[in-house]
Amino acid sequence: IETPDISLSSKEQQGIDELISHSPQLAGITIDALKLIQAERGWVSDASLHALSLYTQIPVADLDSVATFYNLIFRQPVGKVVLHPCDGISCDLMGGEHIRQCLKQQLNITAGETTPDNRFTLIPLPCLGACDKAPVMIANKQLFENVTTDELPKLLSTFN
Ligand code: FES
Repeated sequence: IETPDISLSSKEQQGIDELISHSPQLAGITIDALKLIQAERGWVSDASLHALSLYTQIPVADLDSVATFYNLIFRQPVGKVVLHPCDGISCDLMGGEHIRQCLKQQLNITAGETTPDNRFTLIPLPCLGACDKAPVMIANKQLFENVTTDELPKLLSTFN
């Protein structure tokens, strides 16, 4: 387990205090606290979980299980741009699998991996709630609709 970021920064502490002040139950802040840590650190390491646990008294195991369940919390370092092509049924009916395949080929990585230059991480997600615009993909927190394989190179190049 890494140790460099074992304690929360004062900014992180303030954010957590704010969350606690608005939540009747401590466990209710778990996901927002994890999001806050990720926003500050880019991902949530074991050391970050321990730091959060020490500060909030939420057990590490509880934080870990929520972080693992929630696929927008990254437990490994990610690239500058995280790509979430949808792998839900509606998107697959509209060519979603082809989109994911093209992304893998163009980036030369598989799902869950990051390109060696740390530019892109590929994490497919189930239904993104925009089935009527299928196939869709979130890139850099932005939703792209009716994605085609033809436009993928241009779309990726916008993140240079
Ligand atoms: Fe892709 Fe619903 S299945 S948005």
